[in-house]
Amino acid sequence: MPLPAKRHPPVPYERHVFVCVSGRTCPGRNGDEIGGRLRQMAKEAGITRRIRVNKSGCLNQCAHGPIIVIYPEAVWYAGVTLEDVHEIFAKTILRGEVIPRLVHTPTEKPDTNE
Ligand code: FES
Repeated sequence: MPLPAKRHPPVPYERHVFVCVSGRTCPGRNGDEIGGRLRQMAKEAGITRRIRVNKSGCLNQCAHGPIIVIYPEAVWYAGVTLEDVHEIFAKTILRGEVIPRLVHTPTEKPDTNE
């Protein structure tokens, strides 16, 4: 299964995915299930040593949730649905292809945590 070449400086994972599961909106819009499905797909593909899917706290873009961030592309996806999960896994996580319709365009200033 093709994945990006090793990075320099080295990092522990070839792709690192953060799925917001905490905050005003993402938990109520399937954030947990989206992350769970991505983790399951990575497990079934046998690539959990190369791909890491982590739960994230609120990313302060709540109006656009669920939010997912994927590195090394540093792409932010917004309004992700359960129907988008397979495409995200197949295109972005496995091949590094960005899905333009999901790319987040910030329209709100982040909330302050102060
Ligand atoms: S709840 Fe996900 S960005 Fe705030």
